[in-house]
Amino acid sequence: MSGVLADRHGRVATDLRVSVTDRCNLRCTYCMPAEGLDWMGRDELLTEDELLRLIGIGTELLGIRTVRLTGGEPLLRKGLEELVAGIAALPTRPQIALTTNGIGLARRAERLVDAGLDRINISLDTLDADTFVRLTRRRRLDDVLAGVAAATEAGLQPVKINSVLMRGINDHEAGPLLRWAIEQGVQLRFIEQMPLDAQHGWDRDTMITAAEIRTTLAAEFDLVEDQVDVRSRGSAPAELYRIAGTAHRVGIIAAVSEPFCGACDRVRLTADGQLRNCLFARTEQDLRSRLRSGATDQQLADQWIAAVAIKRPGHGIDDPSFLQPDRPMSAIGG
Ligand code: GTP
Ligand code: 5AD
Ligand code: SF4
Repeated sequence: MSGVLADRHGRVATDLRVSVTDRCNLRCTYCMPAEGLDWMGRDELLTEDELLRLIGIGTELLGIRTVRLTGGEPLLRKGLEELVAGIAALPTRPQIALTTNGIGLARRAERLVDAGLDRINISLDTLDADTFVRLTRRRRLDDVLAGVAAATEAGLQPVKINSVLMRGINDHEAGPLLRWAIEQGVQLRFIEQMPLDAQHGWDRDTMITAAEIRTTLAAEFDLVEDQVDVRSRGSAPAELYRIAGTAHRVGIIAAVSEPFCGACDRVRLTADGQLRNCLFARTEQDLRSRLRSGATDQQLADQWIAAVAIKRPGHGIDDPSFLQPDRPMSAIGG
């Protein structure tokens, strides 16, 4: 290994999140407008070979140990199974994870596992078919539920479910979602909504906070702190609670109100080959141009090291000068 991805605040990035497409087949209101976005062109996207080369530089030269494929919706990327197999065949094999909305997963979960997928996180904000349409503007709840079942059947453990609660839309579903997750044997995590929507409509005052979620759940469940502080949870974004008397756990990702940036071990590669040292980074490093103009592995690794070194200490959402990134979450990778 030629280096580590260390920043000036004592953090080391070992978790690479790779967005493989900015497209999505849902239109979640907290993410993008009904008409969709100005999608990246074909030539702008990194090819499979380019992705594998960059991921390989990460794992062989820079200490990357986990690769999470995200989007947009990663299942929309043609050849995702081949990409997973390519990552699994790297000389230093990383853990391979996928964050998906679950549509189409029912047909593909087994093949993805055969290709080398180790872990999966599926987004699901509601169990009500009409609320699903209101939130995502598509009638696809059954596809997602079938995807969750297929992921479990394919042996992915634990299957994690990500839920964003929206005031007046699905915030009454915290209890039902947790009861469902317990029944299905999946691990539910509630996520605070972050200012990363394409419409720039995020409002702190309407965001459902981690404190509110804890209060709501405590009315129905006896929660015992499990991995809550940094000492026990390391760099994991979710604080975890056990439901007393059971082995089930529920997570809360309090990205806004209780930021976990101090332990952040993440770095991101967008589908068009831009390296971002933080979800909220104001700058990007153009790895794609260097890659396409003949840079060596070592030159790309050096560019990567320099990009992570200047990572800011936190997301800065509370700063008066905070500016939401130009790119929305769907183009950065979740
Ligand atoms: P696990 O290793 O499975 O716990 O993965 P994860 O929770 O990092 O992955 P996932 O893609 O499921 O992310 C869940 C949510 O956590 C994302 O949608 C974000 O809302 C939030 N999240 C993940 N990584 C970061 C991060 O680096 N910063 C912030 N602020 N939020 C993050
Ligand atoms: N804030 C928090 N989470 C978000 N997600 C998408 N947009 C936002 C946002 N603005 C979640 C999705 C999915 C994961 C990849 O990110 O619900 O679970
Ligand atoms: Fe890491 Fe940035 Fe997320 Fe904080 S906001 S946890 S620094 S990626």
